Amino acid sequence: MKSYQKLSTDVSRISEAEEEGADGKPLCHQKLSAWWLGGGLLTVAALLSGVTVWVLGQIWWDQHGISYWSKCTSVPENRRFDCYPEKNVVVTRELCESRGCCFADGEMPLDRINGVPWCFYPPDFPSYTLGSTNETDLGLVGFLTRETKTYYPKDLEKLQLRVEFETDSRLHVKITDATDPRYEVPLDVPQATKRAENPLYSVEFCKEPFGLIVKRRLSGTVLLNTTVAPLFFADQFLQISTVLPSTFLYGLGEHQSNFLHNLEWNTLPLWARDVPPMESYNLYGVHPFYLLMEKGGAAHGVFLLNSNLMEVALQPAPALTWRTTGGILDFYIFLGPDPNLVVQQYQQVIGFPAMPPFWGLGFHLCRWGYGTSNKTWETVKAMRNFQIPQDVQWNDIDYMNGSRDFAVDSEKFASLPQMVEDLHKHGQYYVLILDPGISSVQPPGSYWPYDEGLKRGVFINNTEGKPLIGMVWPGFTAFPDFSNPTTHEWWLENLKHLHAQVPFDGLWLDMNEPSNFIDGSTEGCSKGDLDNPPYMPGILGGSLSARTICASAKQSLSVHYNLHNLYGLMEAKATSRALVEIRGKRPFIISRSTFPSQGKYSGHWLGDNQSKWKDMFWSIPGLLSFSLFGVPLVGADICGFSSSTSEELCIRWMQLGAFYPFSRNHNTQFEKAQDPTAFSPAARTAMKAALELRYTLLPLLYSLFHRAHLQGDTVARPLFFEFPKDEATYAVEKQFLWGRVLLVTPVLEPGADSVIGYFPKGVWYDYYTGSSVNSSGESLKMAAPLDHINVHLREGTILPTQKPGGTTWLTRRNPLTLVAALSQTSTAWGDLFWDDGDSLDTFEKGDYSYLVFNVTQNTFISTVLHSNTEATYITVDKLSVYGVREEPKTVTVSGKNWPFTYLANQVLYVNNLQLPLSQGFSVRWM
Ligand code: NOJ
Repeated sequence: MKSYQKLSTDVSRISEAEEEGADGKPLCHQKLSAWWLGGGLLTVAALLSGVTVWVLGQIWWDQHGISYWSKCTSVPENRRFDCYPEKNVVVTRELCESRGCCFADGEMPLDRINGVPWCFYPPDFPSYTLGSTNETDLGLVGFLTRETKTYYPKDLEKLQLRVEFETDSRLHVKITDATDPRYEVPLDVPQATKRAENPLYSVEFCKEPFGLIVKRRLSGTVLLNTTVAPLFFADQFLQISTVLPSTFLYGLGEHQSNFLHNLEWNTLPLWARDVPPMESYNLYGVHPFYLLMEKGGAAHGVFLLNSNLMEVALQPAPALTWRTTGGILDFYIFLGPDPNLVVQQYQQVIGFPAMPPFWGLGFHLCRWGYGTSNKTWETVKAMRNFQIPQDVQWNDIDYMNGSRDFAVDSEKFASLPQMVEDLHKHGQYYVLILDPGISSVQPPGSYWPYDEGLKRGVFINNTEGKPLIGMVWPGFTAFPDFSNPTTHEWWLENLKHLHAQVPFDGLWLDMNEPSNFIDGSTEGCSKGDLDNPPYMPGILGGSLSARTICASAKQSLSVHYNLHNLYGLMEAKATSRALVEIRGKRPFIISRSTFPSQGKYSGHWLGDNQSKWKDMFWSIPGLLSFSLFGVPLVGADICGFSSSTSEELCIRWMQLGAFYPFSRNHNTQFEKAQDPTAFSPAARTAMKAALELRYTLLPLLYSLFHRAHLQGDTVARPLFFEFPKDEATYAVEKQFLWGRVLLVTPVLEPGADSVIGYFPKGVWYDYYTGSSVNSSGESLKMAAPLDHINVHLREGTILPTQKPGGTTWLTRRNPLTLVAALSQTSTAWGDLFWDDGDSLDTFEKGDYSYLVFNVTQNTFISTVLHSNTEATYITVDKLSVYGVREEPKTVTVSGKNWPFTYLANQVLYVNNLQLPLSQGFSVRWM
């Protein structure tokens, strides 16, 4: 039994956010009338006479030369919006004032990028004015005009503002050029047809300068107020700022950062980039979506549908500034009100994730540098010998001939087809890596993918209309243009050829930012505005072409400048369709670069981490962020990719990795082996136990993925999703939940034999023993010997488990144990989704079973709500009930007396049930 030591509650990040407007000041920035739109009605609001007097006074002061001093000093430090965000520029008073901005007196802060801005907008900095608006079927449309130019080239003088009340919980605000169409992200977003009837939000506008204010109607909380800084809409510089109702801000990926963002002048760049994860910089994927917890436990989310290079500046007001270098301002605002609903509503726009094949949830093993298929095969066999669960074996680029896609090294990997056949015979699966770069150097006629690609014009072109040539593993390469449908056909044909040689089951899409070892191309990039925009967010390398192709490169849909961040998404889309066509089963794809909608086509791994304790920790904020982004199939390289792991680290990481939704141990080349078979017997045993635990819990994990696919629920879930009113959960990033059911508390430090975790208020049961702790909402210290990971069941839940086998194929046939963890009122609820685990669209076609489990009044009831033959193959063998306060005298199963065991820690076991899952049953204890 574990020992629990009570510690003080860690409420490290609870601060009071300023309530905008709470001071009685008008929300519109300076001088304006406001329009209120709420409940579907347009209301003209009267200006309060006091405000009018104040406004007139303000205008008078302005016209009569209000002093620069009073204008600038009236702006509190945390409300300074940066007027000179350019990096690597020493901002002088002269430079600053040439932009019409305020220059702060005093000493220049050492770190200007991440500090209080030195040069900031005065309250009267020119912006757009909103003219008259017209009601539309879904909301309103209006025009914004500006008279003064900004300091960036090509201001758009007239913008169209479209506000649509799409659903009661979703508001859509789109600002674009009023005259000419601009690039918009080619995502299939839902089109509302009817205006929301009872929106949770109200919308107000400030006319001059233009501003948008969105409030939660119920509480009056101001969710967005963009009047706090001027709106910019130049051709290559779009900027909009808002104050935030709290500092509890999450999302905005992909970064290596704490799950809860730091708002102390923290700027997050977004541009797909190949780089081992490091703090402060842009990484592989781009997700311009945030979720914010308001005071009182409500949540909202904001999605900027824009794929250009951008950055998001956070400041302690709290406030946020979006700066993007192209496209339009296309915002979706989700009102929740709880965080689960926010993420669901977001996915209603970007699409729900694909249902993974059941085997995809098994354990995956990979490394760069097995070197030969025989060596790879040996590892698989060693895993089998030690009876360590494994579903999927992978190969990295070393299987390729000359590092070229679709070409297998027929010497070193001569036995690959046999190995794959052997895997399949054992109910195991095989995944291959593919990089987008296609070798362009071999003699014509010797490499079909390139020759044919050239013929069909599938490659991205340079500004002269010739294939842009960069360099990746094979040497010089061209890059397929996945925005071109012809490329999808060509990709499919290549995959068909490859599949005929090696019948792979899934694909690993690497290097798809796209990565390029030379900046831009062999010929560099143009000197034009696309390669050198007037404003450069603070991305790694300081240029758009750093470790990728030129922004000016031409793709069929648009310039790479606009499409760069979509490369991984479009490749995954092409690959997903190809896999369906080739295998006729659910596609299994893991992609390095991602963008909103990615979950529809692939999962993601968190890239090239290191075998370091800190990196193991970073994986949890990474997982949780991708849960928000609608990519639930996510994991990090278990035991670390680069540098060498230690046995202790690898044990702890295998334990944590057993709870990654996507669980893969992967290692770089030349490092020593780190698969479970490479360690001491004790380590092997601990790793095997961790994997067996994962396999035991697969019925839960699979059911969670069904809910993710169905409605966008998260799988690896932040604690605050389940306990939104408990602010102590807001900063938790060393623990996470599986659904609403299991709380995982891994050890993340060396030399530990205990671990401290936060337990929200309520009863939590030790998963292994059923012993309980009744937490008041506190941090608890638990024993955590090296062979143990702490897992707790939340009160009121029912967990379906299965006896683990060496593969998911074997596990899926084993009997189930249902574990009910009773609430304080002795109730519990759980469910199970079950199908054949691999066919396409089983839910959509109705070919599945769905069961609901309930406990009330000392009775466990299993109800079959939907049934197919799959559920007839398995039985329920055991029922464990945690938290049965009194020892029962009798237990009956569907009316018949049944033997049972009752333990002093209030656990009831009913064994040898052998009940068919496909039929309802009840178990009663009295
Ligand atoms: C980079 C990937 O991130 C890594 O996982 C892989 O092993 C190497 N490329 C080699 O393909």
